[in-house]
This record gives sequence, structure tokens and C-alpha cells, in this order.
Amino acid sequence: MLKLVTIIGARPQIIKAAALSRAIRNNFSGRIEEIIVHTGQHYDDNMSQVFFDEMGVPEPNYNLGIGSASHGRQTAAMIEKLEEVIINEKPDFVVLFGDTNSTLAGSVAASKIHFPVIHIEAGLRSFNKSMPEEINRIVCDHTATLLFTPTKTGLKNLVREGFNSNSKPPFTQDHPGLFHCGDIMLDNSLYFADIAESKSRILEDNKLERGRFILATIHRENNTDIPERLNAIFHAIHELTSESETDIIIPLHPRTSKILKQNLTHDVYSSIQNNKHIKIVPPASFFDTLVLEKNCLMVMTDSGGVQKEAYFFQKPVIILRAETEWVEIVENGAGICTDAGIENVVKAYRYFSSFIPVFPPVFGDGKAAEFICRQILQTEGGRGVNSSG
Ligand code: UD1
Repeated sequence: MLKLVTIIGARPQIIKAAALSRAIRNNFSGRIEEIIVHTGQHYDDNMSQVFFDEMGVPEPNYNLGIGSASHGRQTAAMIEKLEEVIINEKPDFVVLFGDTNSTLAGSVAASKIHFPVIHIEAGLRSFNKSMPEEINRIVCDHTATLLFTPTKTGLKNLVREGFNSNSKPPFTQDHPGLFHCGDIMLDNSLYFADIAESKSRILEDNKLERGRFILATIHRENNTDIPERLNAIFHAIHELTSESETDIIIPLHPRTSKILKQNLTHDVYSSIQNNKHIKIVPPASFFDTLVLEKNCLMVMTDSGGVQKEAYFFQKPVIILRAETEWVEIVENGAGICTDAGIENVVKAYRYFSSFIPVFPPVFGDGKAAEFICRQILQTEGGRGVNSSG
């Protein structure tokens, strides 16, 4: 039996892990054993537990309870505790998703004690190292033994950094294996879309009409923590919703809620309070998010995951960043990077109100998790090849 230690911590990782755990349970249960470790990076019920409940992710075998702190303090605490767990569990592989501080901590902890790392969602680059996620993903890719890329761009980025896309097993950290597998989030969107529609009441509860509202999410630290940027985003939201009389629902990340009043000017803050079209609600569950994405007019977001889910449901997306690592969305004309510019956001909204883009399938077939499991089983490179632990 092959043993995986899967490390999760932030909301999007619980979602991605759901697809992998489901594939293991349904198709590989006698061949792959999975130990789940939650770092505790996200800890509020609506940022963590609700995703386990809705998506049937097994309860973590370990919860490290690290919580929020500065980057250094949080990452260091995770590395210390993850090292202990990995030594204790002696897995064949340590599985990491995406680009959060939990990903960084797992990659450093495992690779330094010679346990091979699998990076799911490898190769993404924003080419903006002022974002913590860019540093996290680069480190994880460069310590990994097996790298699974969601897009062809991901593969190209790795090749540009010296990875060999044709390398053959046995794989090691110095001779890693690269696989293009499609996006593991698509597995979940396809699997849960109808279930979510039957369970969620978010549209009724917020009096939203199908096809007639915008979904927005804002949580990146360079949007929330720089007052000029946060003001510009909310100013634009106020302007475009008043002009068009369109509702917008904003399930707000706790990072943003905590800082909203402090970082917005009195004028912007009171204009959004008095705008009947702006509905600010607590972080939405996975099912509620899927229903909002599926039924909205368009999406406005600085989240990577929400950008992709918008594309899966064929909705145009206004990307509140200067660049995106999901370049296919912009290349296909389904997304516009507006950054935090008031005029850019309003212009993009007007553009997508009258133009319906196309959405060619660039994120695979929704079977990434099964592909990953098969590759792991076929691949030499686990215990005995690359592991001294
Ligand atoms: C993290 C990831 C980001 C990912 C996002 C998904 C890093 C560097 N960033 O950002 O890539 O897109 O998760 O949501 O890892 N907080 C709570 N309750 C919680 C969790 C967080 O109140 O359950 C608040 C705390 O004030 C905390 C702040 O949110 O300080 C930021 O949380 P943190 O986990 O550091 O980063 P995210 O912004 O969530």
C-alpha cells in the first residue's frame, strides 16, 4: 500500500484535497492510503469545517492548530510541526496543493528530510514576486519530485526554469517527473454543481435573480492592505452597480472584513453602506459559491480559484489584479486584468455586459485526480528511491 501524507491549510486546498480523497476512496482504496494533515492556517468554521462537511473530505488525522500570524512566524511554526508528523508517518510521498504558506511549509519540511514531494497545481507563475503566493509556488516546484500542472502554460513555465518535460523514472528531487493533468478544481465543479443547486439557498436568501447579479470576492493582501487599492475597488463597485442598477454579492473573506472600515475613506464606506445593490455577506460555503458562480452575470475577483470556476461555468471575469497566472482565461478573452483601477473596472463591466466571450476547454476533462493517482502508482520515486527517512 502506497502511503501519502496530504497537507492542507487554506480554504482552496481543502477543496482541491476533496477531489483527490474522493478519487482515492472510490478507485484506489486498496492501493493508496492517505493521511490528512491540516495546518490550521484557516480555522473559522466558514473558512474550513464547512468544506469538509459539504464535500465529504475525511476529517484530518492531524490538526496542527497553527492559525494566523505574520508570514515568517506562521510558516516557521508549520515547518516545525510538519517535520514531526512526516517523520512519524514515514509516507512514500507528501502531497501539496497550490501556493499558500501551508504549501511552502510542507515543501520545505518534507524535502529537507528527503521525503519526496508531489506538487499539484505546479508551474503557475504570475511573474510578480511581491505576491507571497509566487514565492511559495516557486519553492514548492523546485523541491518537488512529481509535478502536476493544470495547464499547458504551467508546463511551459517549468521548462523555462530548467525542468525536463520528458524526464523518465525513477524520479528524484534532482530528476523530477512532470505531468500535465488538467485542473483538479474542475473535478469538483463538475461533480458538485447539481448537488450544490439542490442544497443551496443563497440566491433566495439574498433575493438574487438568476443571470442578473455580479459575484465579487476580494482577499489578496495587496488589495486589502493598501487603502488606495481597496478604495478604488469599492468605489468602482459603487459606481457600476448604481449606474446599471445591478446587484452585486460579495462574500467577504475575514481578512477583508476586518480591515474594511479602517482602510476605506468615510465617503466610500458610507456609499457602499447606503447602496441597496451591494450585498456584503460572510464567506460562502463551497455549494453556495458554486451556485453563485453558475447563476451570475459575471464575476469580479482577485482569487485564482474563483477566476477558474468562473471560466468553468462560462462566466466572464474581471480580474482585480495587474496579472494572472491563469493566462488562458485572458488569452481567450474571457477575463480582463483591470488591477485596482476604477475606470478599468467600470469599463470591463460595460464590455462584458454587452459581449459574451467563448470558453474553449483549457482546464482538462475534470478527471485530474484519477490521473494523478494512476501516475503516482505507476511512478517509481517513492520510498526507497528518494527517501532516507
Ligand atoms: C491564504 C493564501 C492565499 C489564498 C487564500 C485563500 C497565503 C500566503 N495566502 O490567504 O494564497 O488565496 O488563503 O483564502 O497562504 N482569517 C480569519 N479566519 C480564518 C483565516 C484567516 O479570520 O479562518 C483572517 C486573519 O485575520 C488572518 C487573515 O485572515 O490574519 C489572513 O489569513 P491567511 O491565512 O494569512 O491568508 P489569506 O488571506 O487567507
